Amino acid sequence: NGNGLAQTPPMGWMAWERFRCDTDCKDDLENCISEKLFMDMADRLSEDGWRELGYEYVIIDDCWMSRIRDKNGTLQPDPDRFPSGIKRLADYVHNRGLKLGIYADMGRWTCMGFPGTTLDKIELDAQTFASWGVDYLKFDGCNSNALEQLLGYPLMSKALNATGRPMVYSCSWPVYIGSLPPEVNYTLLGDICHLWRNYYDIQDSWDSVQFIMDWFFNNQDYIQPAAGPGKWNDPDMLIIGNFGLSLEQSRTQMALWSIMASPLIMSNDLRSLDNAARAILQNKAAISINQDPLGIQGRRLFKEKTKIEVYWRPLVDAASALVFLSRRSDMPYHYHTSLEKLGFGKGNYEVYDVFEGSKPKPLNSTEQFTVSINPSGVVMWYLKPVKTDGFFFLL
Ligand code: DGJ
Repeated sequence: NGNGLAQTPPMGWMAWERFRCDTDCKDDLENCISEKLFMDMADRLSEDGWRELGYEYVIIDDCWMSRIRDKNGTLQPDPDRFPSGIKRLADYVHNRGLKLGIYADMGRWTCMGFPGTTLDKIELDAQTFASWGVDYLKFDGCNSNALEQLLGYPLMSKALNATGRPMVYSCSWPVYIGSLPPEVNYTLLGDICHLWRNYYDIQDSWDSVQFIMDWFFNNQDYIQPAAGPGKWNDPDMLIIGNFGLSLEQSRTQMALWSIMASPLIMSNDLRSLDNAARAILQNKAAISINQDPLGIQGRRLFKEKTKIEVYWRPLVDAASALVFLSRRSDMPYHYHTSLEKLGFGKGNYEVYDVFEGSKPKPLNSTEQFTVSINPSGVVMWYLKPVKTDGFFFLL
């Protein structure tokens, strides 16, 4: 993947979690998987301030294809749901300053039973996507065995590069072979894929978000070192703006996905997003933490017996992000600590509360402080060291 793409985690929108495999355009024209859905989302991304914040990929997931390849063996979209074809859709997306992602499956069929990409079809499909102007491929792994995957995922990487068209390559490989070493070779993944799905699919619930984030942080020793510019762990889509998360839980997902340097790929309905969800997803401080140029994935520092957890990510210019998470279900919890206790070096810092948006406040590393953390919610800080001994103390 040394082609300079995805130097920071990819951002955008993907159909799957919210719109699944709804192919019923007769009864559900607004929500079915059709070119209209992707055009609608491209309109929203370009007109509602998303693109300027970095949300640039519009990504098609499963169920876009015709049930059969054409007479030359080429993949083709469902003619009723994508009457203009993918190339025209790519033009539409590009004209709005955005990029188009598409989905294929290393195997005989996709997970939902559409034509798969067997080993003999990999080059053809890569060429087809390039000829359509696709910018991103999500390569799923249903209906193949471990050997086919071992051959197929690297082969697709080569085939994409051979087209000469820059395409971000997202691999679902780890999901299908057990998620951890020795089954999963994270060094190899980093060489061939820009991002990879490590673990199960996210669903529209707080349980699901917790299940996924716990796996990622419980296994941080294995997966955290694998991430960096051009190679990212992918804990799956942001479900903020859907039905399953409260306001607090939505902030928690945004905060921890930013700490994890995860791709920020929303799966929601941008046409009817409420303002609270929009504010979280468009939070500039959270996004800039997520997109930090060093690309170091953050870690969980510890879990307290009180069910408070602390997360940390180092950022450029000696700055960092801190997240205090409450797994309690009683009332806001007052957590007392100091930066020194959290492992920070001696000195003066300037602290900015990401979701409060308040003015930066000075804080000495030895000073005791208290944060009030709501049940299933977070307090998220951006902080950096300041010089207090000169005349350049800027607040
Ligand atoms: C499994 C993947 O993990 C999901 O994200 C989605 O792409 C479905 N397959 C589609 O069938």
